[in-house]
Parts: sequence; structure tokens; C-alpha cells
Amino acid sequence: MANWLVTGGRRLSGEIAVHGAKNAALPILAATILIPEPVELKNCPPLSDVEDMCAILRSLGATVVRSGDTVTVDTSTATHGTLPETLSHRVRSSIFLLGSLVSRFSEACAPYPGGCEIGNRPIDLHLYALSRLGVSFSEGDGRICAKVNRLSGAVIDLDYPSVGATENAMLAAVSADGETVVRGAACEPEIVDLANFLNASGFCVHGAGTPNLVIEGRKECRGISYRILPDRIVTGTYLIAGAITRGSVRVVRTDPTLIGALLSKLEACGFTVRTEPDAVSVTATDRPKELVSVETRPYPAFATDLQAQLFALLSLASGTSVITEHIFENRFRHAAELKRMGAQNEIIGRTAIIRGVPCLHGAKVTAFDLRCGAALALAGLASEGETEILHAERIDRGYDRMDEAVRILGGQILRKEP
Ligand code: UD1
Repeated sequence: MANWLVTGGRRLSGEIAVHGAKNAALPILAATILIPEPVELKNCPPLSDVEDMCAILRSLGATVVRSGDTVTVDTSTATHGTLPETLSHRVRSSIFLLGSLVSRFSEACAPYPGGCEIGNRPIDLHLYALSRLGVSFSEGDGRICAKVNRLSGAVIDLDYPSVGATENAMLAAVSADGETVVRGAACEPEIVDLANFLNASGFCVHGAGTPNLVIEGRKECRGISYRILPDRIVTGTYLIAGAITRGSVRVVRTDPTLIGALLSKLEACGFTVRTEPDAVSVTATDRPKELVSVETRPYPAFATDLQAQLFALLSLASGTSVITEHIFENRFRHAAELKRMGAQNEIIGRTAIIRGVPCLHGAKVTAFDLRCGAALALAGLASEGETEILHAERIDRGYDRMDEAVRILGGQILRKEP
């Protein structure tokens, strides 16, 4: 366990560059299993989740070398499709490997996936998608094993646009015999990035970014060099850091078109937002106005991964805000922690009613999951006094040295290692 000490009361201002997207890097790393040649991934963020995924690939026999922000993966030496127990429990996205491993080795075994404690996270859609392509499953001892003779193209109708299930379907279908159609696919930018990576490697995915994917199975592929898209959630978090501290933050090396839903919320709060082709800034001079209805939904609607951070911001609003969380049922764990800091909120089912207060105060709080931790760090930066965040190592799963980024912007977060 690592604790962070956050000093409040400093306006953050200046410029910060964001790293590559965790949620694009993870499925793209899983995709390297399909390509038995060296692949170079630039802008691959040095996050604990990404490092865990690299370690999983090594355990399968791949060679994975990091040099700065570039990771080179050579899976030509991978020998088997059995995922290691402990690491796979830590990273939920290890489940993506089922699709690519079963494609490469005809069989794969994985422990039930881990990841953030944000509610019941079933994998039924992943299994349905793979079974449509001919994969059969057996379960036991907390593990799931997949087997296939030949992957065959099929129509996959997803009842819900699950990001992970869409990615798993793509990873298995790209090398299947014939054509696969995925209807009801997720449209997140990270799906588009995975499709761009696969297409550049010689596979054939049409329609990424729309609910209808058409995938032509291909056997030939090649190792490539690919740059991972910027992290939209990290971009949004640092913009909220500027807004919540009544400062002015410019985020660079990013793509503002990926966070339109957040930018319109920040404007509705009364902040000044300015976009450039690869940068975005927010300037705040006052506390936010309340937002009467925020709903998390699949992209391009407001992202569940920014809900906790917006919740922290609205805790300081001049009126009462309402947020409804439609994606994950247990994603309000930050609410009670924010109350320890003086926030006023009430959770009724999937809806949070947030009565804005003029100021928060430092307290001892717990980062129950990654975004909960990010929200508490933001609240701490805007509070009077010092906030201690327990289990802050969870923040490192999605933010590369947030303490350093905050320091560049004039704030202070100190790591108190055990
Ligand atoms: C991905 C992101 C995560 C983000 C989420 C929603 C990665 C590594 N993680 O997670 O940061 O919060 O998208 O944008 O990319 N579901 C089922 N059955 C399934 C799969 C999902 O019922 O087989 C449900 C989940 O319980 C949840 C909803 O679908 O309620 C969304 O999940 P999904 O889109 O699959 O999210 P992840 O891929 O897990």
C-alpha cells in the first residue's frame, strides 16, 4: 500500500503533456500475440496496468523491452496460451488475450479477470462473441479454458456495446476464415485505435467507430511501428484539476475531439475552454455552476471513467447537481470519501445528488479504485489543508506519475511509501 499526501489550496496553472491511452495500449498489446514479428509501440504509457500486461506477455514466452515511451514486443517466441494466475487477476484486460491466444495456439486458459473494484464485471459477452466464431469453453477452479479447431467468421450481435467484448471479437475475427460482422459494437476511440493498429499490421477491419464492424479474416500480417493515441481520460482529469483549483491548465499532445462531452460540461459549469488541434485548455476564476443532469453512457456520451473526477468538481458547485451512472453499478465509492472532506452528497441507486459546498477540507481517505483515487487527488488539491490518500498505488494504474504532473502545474502531491 502507498499513501499520498496532497497539499490543498494552490491554483494549478501551466502546461502538461499527456501520455498514450491505457485503454488502447492494453488491447493493442494483446493483439501483438497475433503477429509473430517484432512490433514497436510508441507513446505506450509506463503504467502499472500496462507493465503487468507486458509481464503477462513475457510469461507466455514473448520478448518485451521498454525504452522510454516505446515498447517493443516480439511474440515469435511465445509458446503457449496459459495465462499466469496472479498477474491476470490484477489486470482485467488479460481477458482480451483469450481472443488472440485462441487464434494463435487454438487453445487458451485464463483465470477469471481482475481489475478495478467497480461492480460486477461479467464476461458473458466476451464468451458469446468468441463462441460465435467457433470457440468452445470449459470452466473450473476459477479458470476458463477456450478451444477451437478453426475460427470461422460469423455474425455477432452484441446486446450491449461492451468495449472489451468488441475488442475480443475483433482480435479473434481478424484471422478467422471468412467474414465476421459485429453488430452493436462499441464505438470508443480506443476501438478505432485497435482497428488502425490491426489494419496497419495487414488485417482488415472496416467500420471501427460505428456500431457495425465488418472484419475480413486474413492469415498474412507483419510487424509494424505504431503510435498509440493520447489518453482522453488523463486529458480530462488534468483539465478538471485546473478547473477545481480555479487555475488555468493547458493539456498538450492530446486530441480534444475525443472529450467533447466533458468540454461541454466544463463550459456549462461556467469555465472558459479553448481547443486547438492537439491541445486544450480550461481557465476558471470562480466555483463551478451546478449541472442538473449528467449521465454516463457509451462513447460519445459522457465517459464513466471521468464521472468520479466530475463528481469531485461538482462537490464545490454553487448549487445541486445530479449524476446518473449507467455503465457500472458500483462506481460511487468516491462519494463517501468526499463526504469525509466536507462534501455533501446522497446516492440513490445509480443516481448521485451532489449539494455543492463552498470549500472542502483535508482528510484521510481511501482510493477504492483508480478513478476514485484520481477524484480524491483532485478534491485534495482544492481543499483547505492536507489530504492523505490510502491505497494511492491504484492511481498509478492509469496515470503516469500524477504527482510529477501536479508539481509541473504548481501543486504538491508527496508519495509516502510504506
Ligand atoms: C472498458 C475500459 C474501462 C471503461 C469501460 C466503459 C479498458 C481496459 N477498460 O472496460 O476503463 O470504464 O470500458 O467505458 O478498456 N458487461 C457485461 N458483460 C460482458 C462485458 C461487459 O455485462 O461480457 C457490462 C459491464 O458489467 C458493464 C458494461 O457492460 O456494466 C460496460 O463494460 P465494458 O464496456 O465491457 O467495459 P470494459 O471493457 O470492462
